[in-house]
This record gives sequence, C-alpha cells and structure tokens, in this order.
Amino acid sequence: MVPEFAHRPVMLAEVLEALRPGPGGIYADGTVGGGGHSEAILAASAPDGWLYGCDRDDVAMEAARLRLRRFEGRFEIRRGRFDELADWVPPGSCNGIVLDLGVSSPQLDQAERGFSFQQEGPLDMRMDRRQRLTAADLVNEADTGELAKIFWEYGEEREARRFARSIVEARLTSRFETTRQLAEHIERLVPRKGLRVHPATRVFQALRIAVNDELKLVENGLDAVWTLLAPGGRLAVITFHSLEDRIVKLFGRRLARDYEFDGNVDVPELRRPVAPKLKLITRKAIQPSEAEISENPRARSAQLRVMERI
Ligand SMILES: C[S@@+](CC[C@H](N)C(=O)[O-])C[C@H]1O[C@@H](n2cnc3c(N)ncnc32)[C@H](O)[C@@H]1O
Repeated sequence: MVPEFAHRPVMLAEVLEALRPGPGGIYADGTVGGGGHSEAILAASAPDGWLYGCDRDDVAMEAARLRLRRFEGRFEIRRGRFDELADWVPPGSCNGIVLDLGVSSPQLDQAERGFSFQQEGPLDMRMDRRQRLTAADLVNEADTGELAKIFWEYGEEREARRFARSIVEARLTSRFETTRQLAEHIERLVPRKGLRVHPATRVFQALRIAVNDELKLVENGLDAVWTLLAPGGRLAVITFHSLEDRIVKLFGRRLARDYEFDGNVDVPELRRPVAPKLKLITRKAIQPSEAEISENPRARSAQLRVMERI
C-alpha cells in the first residue's frame, strides 16, 4: 500500500516564482518526496518540459511515481541522494533545480518509520532503509561523549550532556527500542510545565540528522547540483532549521564571490580574483506567508533561498 504522500508542498508559489518553469525547460528535483513540487513543475512546463528527480526514500519514490503518472514520458526519477544527481544528469543542462530538505510529513506520520516522538514506533529514522545504521544503534551504542555531541551540534540541545549521561545509564538496565520509550525518558528528565515545544523535540531532530548524515549530504549535494544548472538556471533550496540554512547561505556567498582564498581565514591581501559562479537572487531567506503557516503548521520553520548560475 502506498501511504498518503499527497500533501501540499511547502512554499510552492515561491518556488514556482523562483524557477519560472515553462515549456521546453529542463528541471531537477533532488528531494522528490511525495512529488508535490515535481508535479507543479511538470504541470507548469507542459507540454514538453522535462524533470529529473530523486529521493533516498523508496516509499516516497513509489508514491511520487503514482502522483506523476499523468506526465509519463516527461520525467525520469531514480531512488538515490541528490549529491549523486551529477552521476546521471548532464552537467549544465537544467533551467531550474529544487531541493526541499529534511523529513517529509508522510515520513513523520508513519509511526513505523520511527521519526516521530508522538507515535509509538521502532527507533529507526532511516530515510534510506538500505542503510544499516538506525537511531536505536546510536542511542544504545554511542558513548556519552558521542551522544552529547550529537544532541548539542545537531539539536542545539542545552541539556545535551545530562540527557546523554542519563540515557547511557538507563540502557544498562534495558535497551531503548521505541520512540515513546526514548521520549518518555526525556520527559522524565525535564519538567514539561510551561514548555512551548516537547522536551524531546531537539533530541529527535539531532538523532535524525545524525542517522541520515544530513548536514554533510547537504554540503556535498550543493557542490554537486549547481554544476547541473545551465547559465541563467536557478537553484531554490528550502530548509527547516538554522543549521541547514546556514550551510545554504554560506554556500551561496562562497560561489557568488569574485575572489577566493586558501583555508578558512579571509585575508584581503591574499585574495585571488575569480569569476563568480552564482548570483544571489534572495539576499535574505524568504519565509512562508502567514496564510500558508496557518493552513500548514509544518511550514512554520521553512526558509527559501534562491540563486542563479552566471
Ligand atoms: C520535505 S520532503 C520533500 C517533499 C516534496 N518536495 C513534495 O512536494 O512532496 C524531503 C524529502 O527529501 C528526502 N531527502 C532528504 N535528504 C535527501 C538527500 N540527501 N538525497 C535525496 N533525498 C533526500 C527525504 O527522503 C524526503 O522524502
């Protein structure tokens, strides 16, 4: 059975405005998910626009194939990561590329995928289920330092070390197997009164990012996908937390510069002039409209950045 993937894509109007898909254009969607953005791009580029797409989640790909059926013959989608798109999409061929990062609503909603602390499921969190490492492996096997680092770096969790120590102690008695078991453990460590977000939110985000190596893949992916753009082609990237947005922002700034330097320190005297590769279309990230947020609360933290190949 294909679960309900056909949710409304985040910041769709803004993405279409940025990419301006039209007949004859070639596009790529590196995070096809349920196919919402892909569907709109194919519809707007009828009758002969073309779309390359990928997603690392097999269930999402199956749902997308169904949703895109009516565009048969105008797209090619493969299961895989977007940093691998350059292995099969011709360089310099795309007029527009969209990346809608992070986890999808259907992934969150399917309890058995283990992404949500609100539903009981296995501590899994793998987007690509061919991968071996699961959230349960990290929670039950990583040492205190490693766990604290994950919670701190990927969740910006202030209680990272205390949570890590307590998890390592508790698992001596019994392994953490399920989402609720971990969420309830964190709830016991933090009085909930007055908290706006659930106390396990940041721990779950951190584990998900670690299991799927998300930040490294975004960095590698951006370096790979811009090479697919034709001159004047645009890249639109939607992120859902500050760690990802920062990577996109720094990537854009680096490729928009007319100079380069070695190492991490920019000493003006040591700069070498280079031709900029990208133009920033959005200097500041764009946020979804109030109307979209009230219709779809999960859009709340979305940020969109757009750049154009020179
Ligand atoms: C927010 S959803 C995309 C939703 C989609 N735009 C739609 O309209 O239905 C994010 C998707 O990106 C996928 N994903 C995350 N990181 C990825 C990566 N590095 N390569 C490929 N897919 C990735 C996830 O599996 C998930 O399906």
